[in-house]
Amino acid sequence: MSPRLNGKVIYVTGAASGIGLACVRRFADEGAVVVGADLNETDAWAEATRAAPAADFHVMDVRDEAAQQAVAADILARHGRIDALVTAAGVAGGGFVHMLDLAEWQRVQDVNITGTFISCKAVLPAMIAQRSGAIVTIASVEGLEGCEGGSSYNAAKGAVVLLTKNMACDYGRAGIRANTICPGFIDTPMFQSVIAPLPMASEIREQHKLGRFGRPEEIAGAAFFLISEDASFVSGVALPVDGGYVAGHSYGLSGMMFGAA
Ligand SMILES: NC(=O)c1ccc[n+]([C@@H]2O[C@H](COP(=O)([O-])OP(=O)(O)OC[C@H]3O[C@@H](n4cnc5c(N)ncnc54)[C@H](O)[C@@H]3O)[C@@H](O)[C@H]2O)c1
Repeated sequence: MSPRLNGKVIYVTGAASGIGLACVRRFADEGAVVVGADLNETDAWAEATRAAPAADFHVMDVRDEAAQQAVAADILARHGRIDALVTAAGVAGGGFVHMLDLAEWQRVQDVNITGTFISCKAVLPAMIAQRSGAIVTIASVEGLEGCEGGSSYNAAKGAVVLLTKNMACDYGRAGIRANTICPGFIDTPMFQSVIAPLPMASEIREQHKLGRFGRPEEIAGAAFFLISEDASFVSGVALPVDGGYVAGHSYGLSGMMFGAA
């Protein structure tokens, strides 16, 4: 099949690892001009963008509004437009509220929701001027429902869901679509450091009705769809890509019936 994002200029935060990196790889393979930003550049970035017609990387903290504005200005100077934004920069967090330091709460909000806000704010003027654009934020299933120990992370991701829906309301008449992906638990470096070592990791896996954790490419596929023309009438959606995690409760009956995945 021919590339389906030919020449589209797509800005991805959190581009050096995990879900963001998988998005970069997919968009590059689909012919997009990819601009990535992250705290540090990784070798994987060069490998992921080998197919891209052009690829720029910015070392940047999503919490830094001036840096984000500078990246947006650079994208416009070099490529003339910003067709899409994917906000994949994020940090894990959580803890029981009565034990949670204010500074730790704030760190999770600063990166996950304020960083998303700053990213969107940086690209929206260009998208409004173009009267077109697609914003895809990365929230979480933990932004759709509670989860033991989630606290600060769930609060931030819930805010990402509603910020995205609100942008769909505010900017639809400017030709801009805004959608959020709510991944289940996806096997990335974040997952390997935070979730995989937990004693209850297999219980978490079992909450995915497909009986497995997800792969970063499966989130990139959803991001590709939401950016593509196939999603031209899709806006304001919080899309779980979660192997059925939020479909309902599971108590083991289907495992008895059908065995392991
Ligand atoms: N892996 C999962 O199970 C899962 C599930 C649901 C949602 N998510 C979300 O998906 C997104 C990507 O997560 P991942 O699993 O790929 O994690 P990851 O740690 O592999 O990648 C996240 C990237 O974000 C970057 N980042 C962190 N703070 C930043 C900052 N202040 N400025 C710029 N870049 C920053 C990191 O350097 C890293 O490269 C996050 O928002 C995460 O919350 C992940």
